[in-house]
Amino acid sequence: MYEKEIIKGFSKLSKEQKVKKVASYFSNPEEVEKELKSFWHPELGKQKLFEEFAENTISNFFFPYGLAPNVIINGKNYMIPMVIEESSVIAAASNSAKFWFTRGGFHTRILSKTKIGQVHFIWAGDHKLLKQHFATLKQLFIEGTNEITKNMRERGGGILAIELIDMRHEIDDYFQIKASFDTIDSMGANFINSCLEEFADILKRYITNTQELKNNSVHIIMSILSNYTPDCLVEAWVECDIKDLEGIDPDMTTDEFVWKFEKAVQVATVDTYRATTHNKGIFNGVDAVVLATGNDFRAVEACGHTYASRDGKYRSLTKVELKNGRFKYSLTIPLALGTVGGLTKLHPLAKFTMELLGDPHAEDLMQIAAVAGLANNFGAIRSLTTKGIQKGHMKMHLLNILNNFAATENEKHAAMEYFKDKKVSFSAVSDFVKEIRK
Ligand code: MEV
Repeated sequence: MYEKEIIKGFSKLSKEQKVKKVASYFSNPEEVEKELKSFWHPELGKQKLFEEFAENTISNFFFPYGLAPNVIINGKNYMIPMVIEESSVIAAASNSAKFWFTRGGFHTRILSKTKIGQVHFIWAGDHKLLKQHFATLKQLFIEGTNEITKNMRERGGGILAIELIDMRHEIDDYFQIKASFDTIDSMGANFINSCLEEFADILKRYITNTQELKNNSVHIIMSILSNYTPDCLVEAWVECDIKDLEGIDPDMTTDEFVWKFEKAVQVATVDTYRATTHNKGIFNGVDAVVLATGNDFRAVEACGHTYASRDGKYRSLTKVELKNGRFKYSLTIPLALGTVGGLTKLHPLAKFTMELLGDPHAEDLMQIAAVAGLANNFGAIRSLTTKGIQKGHMKMHLLNILNNFAATENEKHAAMEYFKDKKVSFSAVSDFVKEIRK
């Protein structure tokens, strides 16, 4: 199956040749080739666009693109696009949206919108001199990046602050230039990285050309944005009178439900094992929106999990407040998202997402993604503390199980009818399929 020698020049092969090469590792190369090609887009232009997003493309990997309707955010009704491979996620978001539709919907606010970049360097010299010259350097950084920042400044953003951070307590001679940015509607990675690399060059040139500093040496380690953006923060919440939660579960009183719900969130705040799963459920919704908009879900996840551990322990990103007969459930999450640049307008479906969401600004998208996260999490905690997660989840998963048995449409209909009032499990479905195929 695998080459023993290093494969040279794979990237130089045409897509057709790459497919053939990979297919040759299988015992049925023709079928493999056919399968891979069956996912190529029939329109050449579109296929080319997709394959140029990344390198060594041999096919496309499909994910479902679905919608959660009836999501009220600050009084406005949205249909939220979600790209996700897991059954139940869109259903959970939709159910929560429906539930809160008649209880004031979701509320959101942007807490801050700053992004961070750093030049990490070693200063093998007099640190006092470096500190003395930093005010001049700062001015040079700003002037030297005027060309790069011009458009961003015209849109109201740009460099917000530049600091010298002394990190010698961590690593000998280690300093940082730490800069903060407002990148308006773009995620801003390229903008920030370009500014930082320019800062690094300016720093090096300044040391070489300044008589007083000539005998000191600077070693730039790297210049890169930080995906940790604790100051690019959004809050989403739902709230209502506790009495308006009445009927949330047929087998529980409202007070029982609220008590259990609060305990479940407390558990996710103090127990790291539970917090991870709890936050995973939030990211079910967040990532699905992030993917549908062509944004970078790895950056969003990395940041969210770091933020969840900001006090040294990994905790829930949501919190529940019960005061004066009111139930308030909120999510505070850092989301560095863009609505321009990257794939946001290049990927045809990301472009469609933006249109469907009414061409949102980055701030709007942060709020929409946060709501999707809160909606999913509320749905999960509601199920977990009442009827349990498996009943609903397995119902949604039924089609996947049936597809494992290559069930026909008739068999699927029959199974869905049969399992309406029964517990779905892999073996139960297997028995059912065997039985009707007899
Ligand atoms: C499954 O994808 C997500 C949940 O496990 C989240 C949770 O437990 O809160 C249901």
